[in-house]
Amino acid sequence: MQGAGGPRLVAAVAEAGGLGVLPTFGGTEAALRADIAHTRELTGRPFGVNITPIGRAFTESRAAVCIELGVPIVTTGRGDPGLKVVERLRNAGVRVLPVVPSVKHARRVEAEGADAIIASGSEAGGHVGTVATLPLVAQVADAVRVPVVAAGGIGDARGFVAALALGACGIQLGTRLIATPESEAPAHTKRSILEADETGTLVTSLLTGKPVRTLVTAALREYESARLAGAPEERQAELRERFRRESQAPGGERAFAAGQIIGMIREVQPVAEIFTQIITDATALLGRLSAAAAA
Ligand SMILES: Cc1cc2nc3c(=O)[nH]c(=O)nc-3n(C[C@H](O)[C@H](O)[C@H](O)COP(=O)(O)O)c2cc1C
Repeated sequence: MQGAGGPRLVAAVAEAGGLGVLPTFGGTEAALRADIAHTRELTGRPFGVNITPIGRAFTESRAAVCIELGVPIVTTGRGDPGLKVVERLRNAGVRVLPVVPSVKHARRVEAEGADAIIASGSEAGGHVGTVATLPLVAQVADAVRVPVVAAGGIGDARGFVAALALGACGIQLGTRLIATPESEAPAHTKRSILEADETGTLVTSLLTGKPVRTLVTAALREYESARLAGAPEERQAELRERFRRESQAPGGERAFAAGQIIGMIREVQPVAEIFTQIITDATALLGRLSAAAAA
């Protein structure tokens, strides 16, 4: 999670029994090397690296770092990393888990050799497609043979158990982990998440040129409303500029990627506590469901 998931969060997830994943989006190659080294100082457990394929040179250089430094697992987000990169990683013994927004993408990356697939629905924070998690995970699970991990809109044991019922073998959490002491997200972002309800995000292409689900700011809402209403381009440009100015101003309201589960996050909680709670609650929930089915 770019902006939230540094070595501290990744190590905390690894220590709690999950697979932490370091982001590379927007960072330099040197920063990735430093983050891998730092994370290894904090945990002896395995962790992965996420490569957002924003260009061939970027993708290939980050993949080369992962191979050189013996990173065991790479996830790829927002787009297809390409057959060559997947092959190179797999030939070096790295397991590759692409994030996909549709059945078509899932079939393609499976054919390219993906070891598992992360099916991410439109409720998620960050880059999104158009299909929601409930229909997406079930249809991807039906379409591929490799294991499927569900992402998008999962924040507690209920979402975890639902994902298992849809055919996933595990879940990827994003937004829930922003509101942790271990995340690098700014304090005001964590506060905004605690105060928001489920309507507090929107999808915009203003941040990266591709659709990103993010916390709403007043300037962003105004721009997106004007765009959807078909306001003249001059007015839209003015509102885009206002959004950029406010985002850069010290103490200004900033857009920060977050998903629709923000409404269920009511406190900043350590990663270990979140994981224990999800597993404990899921075990109890599965027990209740089995008892109800047997009755
Ligand atoms: C702040 C933030 C930054 C993210 N950055 C990335 C990223 O760099 N690469 C990526 O593949 N996914 C990224 N994501 C998506 C997450 O990895 C994850 O798939 C998603 O958050 C799951 O949905 P949820 O937010 O509903 O939990 C990001 C999500 C958030 C909230």
